[in-house]
Amino acid sequence: MGSARSLLVTGAAGFIGVNFVYYWLQQYPQDKVIGLDALTYAGNLSSLEDALENNNFSFVQGDIRDQEMIESLMAEHSIDTIVHFAAESHVDRSISGPDAFIDTNIIGTHSMLKAARNQWLSSDAPEPHRFHHVSTDEVYGSLKRDDPAFTETTPYKPSSPYSASKAASDHLVHAYAHTYGLETTISNCSNNYGPYQFPEKLIPLVLINILHGKELPIYGDGKQIRDWLYVADHARGIDLIINKGRVGETYNIGGHNEWQNIDIVTLICERMNQLATENDELRKQFPNMPDDAKSLITFVKDRPGHDQRYAIDAHKSTTELGYVPEESFETGIKKTIEWYLQQQGWWQAVMDGSYKEWISSQYHQK
Ligand code: NAD
Ligand code: TYD
Repeated sequence: MGSARSLLVTGAAGFIGVNFVYYWLQQYPQDKVIGLDALTYAGNLSSLEDALENNNFSFVQGDIRDQEMIESLMAEHSIDTIVHFAAESHVDRSISGPDAFIDTNIIGTHSMLKAARNQWLSSDAPEPHRFHHVSTDEVYGSLKRDDPAFTETTPYKPSSPYSASKAASDHLVHAYAHTYGLETTISNCSNNYGPYQFPEKLIPLVLINILHGKELPIYGDGKQIRDWLYVADHARGIDLIINKGRVGETYNIGGHNEWQNIDIVTLICERMNQLATENDELRKQFPNMPDDAKSLITFVKDRPGHDQRYAIDAHKSTTELGYVPEESFETGIKKTIEWYLQQQGWWQAVMDGSYKEWISSQYHQK
């Protein structure tokens, strides 16, 4: 592959896609990046506002299930690298409405694979290429408290419609590598947090509910454990896999950072209490914020089939690729809280669904 790449990033307007686009444009200013996204409820073009100022970035609104459109995009931009984030990603939504997860995560990924195969492998001299598929640690199922963390050889045992659909997509990626010789890599990553995360996920939901004095719903006993990773570290991990990873391989990416849900929520409450004491302006802006945010903690009915614990063993990524998370949880949470406090326009617009009007008043789309 030549020195400058041409990337197609699917799900580019979602939480991790956005962070990845900013990361890549900064890290590889010579590369061309095409962001593709269907702009579902989870995709926000406003998040890409700064990227749209960059001549090396362009955005296309479209659905990954549209194979013909994907192929013409790939041909038009001489795409040599696909980074496939687009998915339905919220476990609770997969429980109440699994169909969209099958359509996007399985059928959509298959459509991406078919397009990549046609574009890259159909001639006698296959084009140099990479198809990187972004997946989750949830495909491995649930761990007991003392079980060893997931490795790349842990058998798949997904429990929710979300994780089952991601597992199916991983298998399709393997099949296209094995059967047709598509040059793929897969990353299975733990729970991400950071800027631009849609406020239905635990950390932004808790932050925003505290500001509004709304209940902080803790599912079940709150003792479920997740391994949390700052989103920029995920982007760096994917970069290392694309540049140094072995074709056909899977790499786990994690934060070495396991927390019980209740402990995370308590930590955020304490940080917010401290900020409110130091910052009169914040109190004036959010008069419903209580003196002690912990008073908002409310135990609610558990999520059906709730996985108890996820934990990633990222040894392979560390030894083969030199992957080590740079952000500590201390610094990552601090940055995340600061970002949500500074970017109220973003989350207010996202939450009231009026972001489309908001962005059109901010800038002109290319
Ligand atoms: P997200 O829900 O914030 O973003 C998903 C994006 O995909 C949205 O912008 C949405 O509009 C887009 N999209 C959905 N259906 C589409 C379709 N049919 N065609 C084109 N675009 C479509 O999700 P996220 O948290 O950014 O996750 C991105 C990827 O990373 C997913 O594949 C997810 O499984 C994986 N992942 C997420 C986490 C996490 O903690 N968030 C952890 C590990 C892996
Ligand atoms: P979430 O952010 O939905 O990620 P995932 O389910 O993919 O791990 O949830 C993280 C954990 O927090 C999970 O164990 C469910 C729990 N949770 C709550 O207790 N209350 C909430 O309101 C939410 C959204 C999640």
